Amino acid sequence: MHCYPGFLKSLFLTFIFYLLIQNACAQGIITKRLSRADSIKVENLISQMTLAEKIGQLTLLASAWNATGPAMNANYEQLIRTGKAGAVLNFYTVDKVRELQKLAVSESRLGIPLIFGNDVIHGHRTIFPIPLGQAASWDLTAIEKAEQIAAMEASAEGINWTYAPMVDIARDPRWGRVAEGAGEDTWLGCQIAKARVRGFQGDSYADGKHVLACVKHFAAYGAAVAGRDYNVVDISPVTLHENYLPPYKAAVDAGVASVMTSFNEINGVPSTASHWLLTDLLRKEWGFRGFVVTDWTSINEMVSHGVAADVKAAACLALNAGVDMDMQGSAYLNNLGELLKENQVTLSAIDEAVRHVLAAKAELGLFADPYLFCNKQREQTEIMTKESQDFARELVAESCVLLKNYNNTLPVPPGAKSIALIGPLADSRKDMLGNWYSAGKWEQAVSLLEGFRNRYSKQTKIVYEKGCNINDSVVNGIDAAVKAASEADFVILALGESGDMSGEAASRSNIDLPGMQYQLAEAVIKAGKPTAVVLFNGRPLAISKLNQIAPAILETWFGGTQAGNGITDVLSGDVNPSGKITMSFPRNTGQIPVYYNVKNTGRPYSPDRPNEKYVSRYLDCPNTPLYPFGFGLSYTNFTYAGIKASIEGNSITISANVTNSGKRDGEEVVQLYIQDKVGSITRPLKELKGFKKLMIKKGESVNVSFTISREDLSFYHPDLTKYWEPGEFNAFIGGSSAELISASFKL
Ligand code: BGC
Repeated sequence: MHCYPGFLKSLFLTFIFYLLIQNACAQGIITKRLSRADSIKVENLISQMTLAEKIGQLTLLASAWNATGPAMNANYEQLIRTGKAGAVLNFYTVDKVRELQKLAVSESRLGIPLIFGNDVIHGHRTIFPIPLGQAASWDLTAIEKAEQIAAMEASAEGINWTYAPMVDIARDPRWGRVAEGAGEDTWLGCQIAKARVRGFQGDSYADGKHVLACVKHFAAYGAAVAGRDYNVVDISPVTLHENYLPPYKAAVDAGVASVMTSFNEINGVPSTASHWLLTDLLRKEWGFRGFVVTDWTSINEMVSHGVAADVKAAACLALNAGVDMDMQGSAYLNNLGELLKENQVTLSAIDEAVRHVLAAKAELGLFADPYLFCNKQREQTEIMTKESQDFARELVAESCVLLKNYNNTLPVPPGAKSIALIGPLADSRKDMLGNWYSAGKWEQAVSLLEGFRNRYSKQTKIVYEKGCNINDSVVNGIDAAVKAASEADFVILALGESGDMSGEAASRSNIDLPGMQYQLAEAVIKAGKPTAVVLFNGRPLAISKLNQIAPAILETWFGGTQAGNGITDVLSGDVNPSGKITMSFPRNTGQIPVYYNVKNTGRPYSPDRPNEKYVSRYLDCPNTPLYPFGFGLSYTNFTYAGIKASIEGNSITISANVTNSGKRDGEEVVQLYIQDKVGSITRPLKELKGFKKLMIKKGESVNVSFTISREDLSFYHPDLTKYWEPGEFNAFIGGSSAELISASFKL
């Protein structure tokens, strides 16, 4: 008799949970991948949580390991113990993670495990080329694999959430964060965003070897005015939708688990306060089911933006806009309770945010095993493996872009008896990792000098002279460098930026070669020996002057742990370069922004009438970039002919013959561009719509064909509807956005 009420009570509770879960599923809150048992677990927890515990789940605490802003919570251990933290960032290694996880699981009242996040941007311990460099490989399979390895290494050290991929489209190389993205093109940016999400997240987290991805910085952070970091974004709705938003959407479509808001405002509204962005667009229109986290203290920064009088008002804006988790600002921790009391936020909004966070924890498998990512053995066996190093080396070589090769200066001739490596980046391990190198150790990186020493036998004399520093005015090393150059058979000049001159808070108003490096190059090249410049940088540089005097230039970005070996593979000719830049290189800083998919204007400049005055041009510089998007040379040559366009049903097929007309086998990135000749609003002169990366043997021809649909030609209109318009189109195929053959078709 006595157990009867208890039985009824649990029946009633089960029924309530059932209704809650149905409701959560109907609202698309719980991810599709969450099992029924996990959904019940999540709702069960929410029903038991105090308000303070709920707010705790919405709080992301940072350790001071890699702080990019104020680190506020020195007492994080106490906060975890009392259930006032949902996740931790900048914290790894199995022992450390286990220690904190234990506080959460064994000491907090409900024992809810923490998520551990870190910026795993281009590798964790094995550092791969910076993302802009990886993009230059145009190899989606390799990019996906790099993220798989990054996830494997990070998860072997307790991390289960990465703040990547960064998919901000960027047309301004003054902005230091272009290093972290895929460049200027939206279509390519979408393909790379998807590949990176797949690499990080895999099909499931069950093996503990994949991590939650976080697409960032939502949205349009790359459009910061004048390329100054954190600056405002002022953008037309059509441009926002057409050029900037699609890569975030591609990541959402690929199932990305979380989204990070951006620091910037868009047209007066900081992203972190934008209900339109975070709720109407992201959740309702795109159907995003994961959780939204702010960037570092972005809620607090809304006071400086001037849209909130104090942090409490900012927290109110953020929660009501749709932000689930507060990164490092304690704005939720300190204010949500009061805001609820004052009815400025609702309990159901808080519950919903908590639900998003708990769902991610369930999806990661943390409720089943909070220590899933704390495997000591994996930490010892899965990090910096031989396979990862070999692959990293291949990816370095694949990311290199040959920008100039006058008279086949490169590769280094096999007969060279002495090679001089000159320049401030020739013997630097530190700079090889670039910026955002997670737990990478520069001591384990291979410098260019070491790469040469590894490759060349004792019979080849390798000499090194630094010449000058990266960024100061000291010139007293130049004479010794000239002497070394004159005595060598071949000269490599390693020039560029230091690893920390790009990345966050690293905008430059002048993107020339820094310091005295041009003077060094001039003096060394005058020595008259065959000379190749090897460039290291996190952004396109303005190197017109260098381009005039250097016989050969190889762009190598920051290659990561295996940089020296992979670059040497290309310079020595062991690997034929196949990279193509994904951001235009301007002729000078004043030409910025310069990008390939420009519009014609009403007074276009024509090279056939170079002296025409009243046209859209500069008096002192051509409109075209120094190196265009999609450009990169090979040690062989590819020629294009026979382009054809045909239409069958909804399919438009464009094909051309590509011939390797040079003397060695090589890979070519064959690119397809389309121009919509007349639109109801103005359209770009060309837009990338496809590419294929192919190995073509010397002397061979292949017929390369692309099939697209009419929908691929649709674009945003002023009322933000997206559709294609009938009319005439040009199709272009070629090996760069500036060297193309064309055919036309009509729809
Ligand atoms: C950056 C983010 C990064 C976060 C956490 C911020 O300063 O803008 O990209 O993920 O710090 O380290």
